[in-house]
Amino acid sequence: MASAAEKAPAIASSGSGVVLMFPLPFQGHLNPMLQLADVLRSRGFAITVFHAAFNIPDPERAGGCRFVPVGSEVPVGDLIPTGSDADFAGAILRINERLQGPFQDALREVLLEEEEEGKAPRPVCLVVDSNFRGMQAVAQGFGVPTLVLRTGGAACLVAYMSFHALCDKGVLPPPPSQDQSQLDMPLDDLPPLLLRDMVFSATTPHETMSTCLERILESARSSSGVIVNTFADLEGAELRKIADGVSAPVFAIGPLHRISSGADSSLLIQDRSCLDWLDKQEAGSVLYVSFGSLASMNQEELVETAWGLANSGAPFLWVIRPDLVQGSQKVSTLPGGFEEETRGRGMVVSWAPQQEVLEHSSVGGFWTHNGWNSTLESICEGVPMICRPHFADQMINARYVQEVWRTGFELEGKLERAKIERAVRKLVFEEEGLEMKRRAKDLKNKARRCIEKGGSSEIAIDSLVNCIMSF
Ligand code: UDX
Repeated sequence: MASAAEKAPAIASSGSGVVLMFPLPFQGHLNPMLQLADVLRSRGFAITVFHAAFNIPDPERAGGCRFVPVGSEVPVGDLIPTGSDADFAGAILRINERLQGPFQDALREVLLEEEEEGKAPRPVCLVVDSNFRGMQAVAQGFGVPTLVLRTGGAACLVAYMSFHALCDKGVLPPPPSQDQSQLDMPLDDLPPLLLRDMVFSATTPHETMSTCLERILESARSSSGVIVNTFADLEGAELRKIADGVSAPVFAIGPLHRISSGADSSLLIQDRSCLDWLDKQEAGSVLYVSFGSLASMNQEELVETAWGLANSGAPFLWVIRPDLVQGSQKVSTLPGGFEEETRGRGMVVSWAPQQEVLEHSSVGGFWTHNGWNSTLESICEGVPMICRPHFADQMINARYVQEVWRTGFELEGKLERAKIERAVRKLVFEEEGLEMKRRAKDLKNKARRCIEKGGSSEIAIDSLVNCIMSF
């Protein structure tokens, strides 16, 4: 079955009215939602963003949207997961539960504004993060049409769609005593995925995961359309499976960060001095190292990473978030001698302007946790990857990088300096890495073409605008 973008002729290129949005308040979800806001604003819509009372992007920098706080009185302690071992699915279910009531009040108020003549234009629909089935239900209660934004890749949603069938077959959850090698069992219905790629969290109980995924699918199936931050040339087969599985139009409108004119929704201040440092490095020589906004490591892993990078001989730019190391709020835990050893060749920052870093001609490789935004941003700049997935969709993204797009490889097992050194050398200096880079450049060209006039994502945005105007 063709996606809506492939089927529908493009008619409208601009719309009018207010589009309401409700992002999941985490960096990897805020970025694509606010990029989408920017794209829809450029097509004539005004945007109102409902927002939880934590992880709030700066409205000044996020540009041109009205922000409406939701649940300022709600206790948030157990809503903000920290570290790779956190129970994200549990937190998502709690956020839904706790914010549903406050959202009902906030939405009612916004809808009432429209009735007071001249005060506000008509809200046309609500775009919710696909993890917000609870908020979607509230909007539907008011008769507001909903669209769902999937901030992850299409392959991930396809895998989620198979989760319950794998449970019925007894494949999931793997028995606790399962020996690790059995987790390498290929999943025949989901090539190239392995059983281990479907074990999304070490700490989330199976029932919680199952409920969380069920809600994601429910949100897609009860929506008027599913917006996916990907592009047809990257995940065409997976997009067709989604269209078949959710029976709603599917709009593959990514890569959003390349289409948006630069909404800045960063929750941390980006250290731009690293761009000056990159200017001084040789073309294609630098390894960029970052594990996104949530993944963490322990002190021993930090030390091994430091010496692995130092011993590789490659120039590197390494993002060490203030909370990257579990139980530590300090960057000063880097091993003694590391700074002297890497002076001039390495730079450490606490948060980088990642998209500009990946775009920089000095960057030749990316050691990433494979959050979907990082994966897509790397693909769009033709940068090959060392993959070190931690949780959620990251294992699926890494598997696709390694097996389908072949623009990177996984660094598996315990983090040890010698292994890291070999991986970095392979990516940056060896022929295998250069081949990955060539394939990555090819994908970069495809990503560029899909957003040009008549490209698949441009057509999908037109279809999305038409869809919104039809409400
Ligand atoms: C989370 C999950 O980890 C991920 O699996 C899921 O796909 C989305 O939600 P996160 O861990 O933050 O996301 O990773 P990712 O999806 O890669 O998003 C990180 C964002 O932060 C990217 O847009 C990246 O450009 C930005 N970033 C990262 C910076 O701006 N500066 C940095 O130093 C690092």
